[in-house]
Amino acid sequence: MRNIILVGFMGTGKTTVGKLIAEKTGMPLIDMDSLIVERAGKSINDIFAQEGEAYFRQLERELVQELAATSGNIISTGGGIVLNPDNIADFEKNGLVVCLLADAESVLDRVRHDTARPLLAGDKEKNIIHLLETRRPLYESITHKINTSGRPSPIPTAQEIIDLYESINS
Ligand code: S3P
Repeated sequence: MRNIILVGFMGTGKTTVGKLIAEKTGMPLIDMDSLIVERAGKSINDIFAQEGEAYFRQLERELVQELAATSGNIISTGGGIVLNPDNIADFEKNGLVVCLLADAESVLDRVRHDTARPLLAGDKEKNIIHLLETRRPLYESITHKINTSGRPSPIPTAQEIIDLYESINS
């Protein structure tokens, strides 16, 4: 069985949607950021502050290689997974990669009170607009995309992904 891999900018709802898909399908959910934090024994903020972003990307890369070799999992990725095209290529070998899209306003709405994302520290709105703009082509290049902007509930998004997964598995 293939994996379902959820990709997308911070605050697009990957983890929430992943949990819903897990509840509906019984497939296990693996949250990459949580696993990195658990294994490193420190928060994402601390990894960035103490070891730097490049080290975090290396941990992410190694975890992608490990998880791309599994099957039947829902994998919720960190927003920067698209920065290395090898990550997407590896996941696509045995998985349905779905990118959740959202505009800056929706993202800001969802992460307004968050302090756990080092790349948004400081002027959140400015950082979101800038990062979204530079990464847009990377998210847009993924075959399966769902725009979640303005969607009040993640339930239809989860169902859409399940339907897509079932259609390509049948
Ligand atoms: C990042 C997104 C975060 C986390 C880290 C870097 C990014 O994950 O991996 O803070 O570069 O977009 P979420 O997308 O789950 O917030």
